[in-house]
Amino acid sequence: MTDSPRPTLLDWSNRKVDYLRISITDRCNERCAYCMPHDLKDWQEREEILTYEELLRVVRIAVGLGFRKFRVTGGEPLVRKDADRFIEWLGATPGVESLGLSTNATLLAPLADRLRAAGVRSVNISLDTLDPETYNRLTRGQLETCLGGIDAAVAAGFPQVKLNAVLMRGVNDHELGNLARFAHERGAILRFIELMPVTTTEVLSRENFLSAEEARILLGGELGLTPHEERLGHGPAVYFRTGLGSIVGFIGAMSDLHFCDLCNKIRLTPDGKIRPCLGNHLEFDLKAVLRAGEDDQAVEAVFRSALGLKPREHDFREQYKPGRHMTAIGG
Ligand code: 5AD
Ligand code: SF4
Repeated sequence: MTDSPRPTLLDWSNRKVDYLRISITDRCNERCAYCMPHDLKDWQEREEILTYEELLRVVRIAVGLGFRKFRVTGGEPLVRKDADRFIEWLGATPGVESLGLSTNATLLAPLADRLRAAGVRSVNISLDTLDPETYNRLTRGQLETCLGGIDAAVAAGFPQVKLNAVLMRGVNDHELGNLARFAHERGAILRFIELMPVTTTEVLSRENFLSAEEARILLGGELGLTPHEERLGHGPAVYFRTGLGSIVGFIGAMSDLHFCDLCNKIRLTPDGKIRPCLGNHLEFDLKAVLRAGEDDQAVEAVFRSALGLKPREHDFREQYKPGRHMTAIGG
């Protein structure tokens, strides 16, 4: 007997949505300036955060609806107790076809092999600079620890290791070539991300913004870039091949007016809200339904409402004022 075909989930504007990013904590052991204020203290209370049991139930229901790709994010997901066990359970859940992790890599080294064995396919690591002082200024962490995590990820043999560099004029605009060489040497895909107004800190100023196009011109001048025709993944990054032979991507969330056309994802915040768009305040309260002891159909209904109202595009260009910090949403 063959399995019945899995449903395809479309939002109201016919975008196929099959990707759920699950943020398991708003906490982080670093303090990236573009992500949260350095002195942030208003963490979500433990009781506010969905338990692993609740999350696994949500995932089972999401799979039934047509979600196939899952990514665990934070904050820094690996600071939550037993995150590795949760990821193992997630990897063993039928219907989870693709499992990813977004991390700052500082806690990754001792866990990398275990996470690989748990079925994690794709690891996205934040790396904005290769200068130890700049790294410390930006994140309050140590570059060396992050690099140790990157090496462990490469050694563990994840099918895909991606390095994310947020573009910041005057901070890392002179490092684009170095970052590309570093990624190339490790067989990793480097992606440059335009700074988005997801939090309220001094880094998020117009003067610090560097567009994907400008970065492309800078990097192209240094290493040479040719468009990579093949699509990589389903995300909104545009990929190029460097003169070194490696692949680099550009995520022009602010400047690309078609950025949202292919959006295939929604997010689940640590405190159990479905967030259909990073750049829009709209949220749907899943936790209330879970904790009221409602049945699976009621949970499905929350997903359907979120898809029914998933914004056509983000509001980042409209004087957007973030209501939550990035860590409390999930990257
Ligand atoms: N702008 C762009 N990207 C951001 N990230 C976090 N904050 C921002 C921001 N303000 C990215 C980081 C991290 C990922 C989870 O989200 O690159 O790797
Ligand atoms: Fe932590 Fe990641 Fe935010 Fe940096 S971007 S503060 S590593 S959650």
